[in-house]
Amino acid sequence: MSENVIIFDTTLRDGEQSPGCSLTLSEKREIAVRLESLKVDVIEAGFAVASRGDFESIQAVSDQVTDCVVASLARALPRDIDTAWESLRRARRPRIHTFIATSDIHLVHKLKKSRAEVLESAGRAVRYAKALCEDVEFSAEDATRSDPDFLIQVLGEAIRSGATVVNVPDTVGYTTPQEYFDLITRLRERVPGIERVALSVHCHNDLGLAVANTLAAVRAGATQVETTINGIGERAGNAALEEVVMALRTRRDFFDRTCRVETARIFRTCKLVSTLIGRPIPANKAIVGANAFAHESGIHQHGVLADKRTYEIMTPESIGLAQNTLVLGKHSGRHAFDARLAEMGYAMPEEERVRAFERFKDLADRKKNVTALDLEALLSDTRPDADSGYKLERFIIHNGNTIPATANIRLSRAGEEWEEAASGDGPMDAAFKAMEKIIGLSLELEDYAVHSVGEGRDAQGEVVIKIRGGGYAAMGRGLSTDIVEAGLRAYLNAVNRMLSGKSLSEEFRAAS
Ligand code: KIV
Ligand code: ZN
Repeated sequence: MSENVIIFDTTLRDGEQSPGCSLTLSEKREIAVRLESLKVDVIEAGFAVASRGDFESIQAVSDQVTDCVVASLARALPRDIDTAWESLRRARRPRIHTFIATSDIHLVHKLKKSRAEVLESAGRAVRYAKALCEDVEFSAEDATRSDPDFLIQVLGEAIRSGATVVNVPDTVGYTTPQEYFDLITRLRERVPGIERVALSVHCHNDLGLAVANTLAAVRAGATQVETTINGIGERAGNAALEEVVMALRTRRDFFDRTCRVETARIFRTCKLVSTLIGRPIPANKAIVGANAFAHESGIHQHGVLADKRTYEIMTPESIGLAQNTLVLGKHSGRHAFDARLAEMGYAMPEEERVRAFERFKDLADRKKNVTALDLEALLSDTRPDADSGYKLERFIIHNGNTIPATANIRLSRAGEEWEEAASGDGPMDAAFKAMEKIIGLSLELEDYAVHSVGEGRDAQGEVVIKIRGGGYAAMGRGLSTDIVEAGLRAYLNAVNRMLSGKSLSEEFRAAS
């Protein structure tokens, strides 16, 4: 029987370090719930000492998740390790993940420590963590650019000090599949005690090799892989969970390894993360891109019609794609709606469900068929924190190529209402100016992207916006079958996120 590979997901930690990505606490909790139902083994929930927000998110994930190990990252320093433990201590299965760099480049230029000092720090950090928590992972940062003999010494010391997992990160995405295979093989042969612990790999994608390197390491005997949803992460990202898992499943004949992941939940998880970080999945992305199962050429279409296996190495059903065609319509009642949510794996409080049902009815009036994709988008637009702050009550916009654009906007917040008008260069500019008059802020628009949720003229438009002001940036999303309304909602969502940001300066908040 093939052995299981442990799937360690670091979307909420390394993934969240991806440029421009920032998630609220409730969004992180929602992703954690989804990762748990995807059946990953370990969720790395954050880097506790990095910020109050990270600390609280790790606590929230620790309270929420019961079926996965929850890990918190810490440098090899007592303060970091204490903070990681504080954030994790309520988790059912906590893990402290401590790291220190082992390459000479990092030792000389970053840590300014000798090899002997790093060896000593690694052992001390693991022992310190072990006194707090039974499960301790040790990572040798920049392992692939380290002297292999020194790496062997450091990993051996970590194991002697009590590590339960040792990780060999390709921190800067430098290695190649054969080289990584050889390194993992050598570590398995030479590190004392390595057979007693999990041997983990963690690959970055700077040369586009993260998944290939991860899989090469699995072939060499690695027992844990560290991945992120959609491959998000520092710089070019990390190894994509969906690609590693589907490679293991599709080529089980070759890898002879399995994992616990419920692959039929992959698509929805990838879609959720993409929506929450405001970054659409590229059409040609392996496994979950819109084109991943599309057959354009006549020869391919002919083959697929005759027998899907001619050009399909895995089925859309295996990643949960087919269910997205399931529809609801305007005659669907609360019962059908609830049943569909349950099928999609949503368990939410009654109050949220009622709000979501109201939005669904409104959408079904405007759109003939409401698909699972529409529901996903709508649910991420009706979560509790999406509703707090300013609300769009009404808008009237006049525009044309022979008249200046004018907008009249009414907003409300906590029972109060305001109305303002403005003109501008196009409908959105006019509307944003009117909203800024109400809110009392002057904001820069850094990015504005529109895409459709599903197909057809009545498809919902999703707008993702990035605004900046007072030294702070915020991302916002808005959804509607009317793309102007989607844009206004996105703008308000970004403003509300900015105003509720814990790090926001008082002067800037006071201006609101
Ligand atoms: O890339 C890396 O080296 C890391 C470690 C902290 C595990 O993310
Ligand atoms: Zn990393």
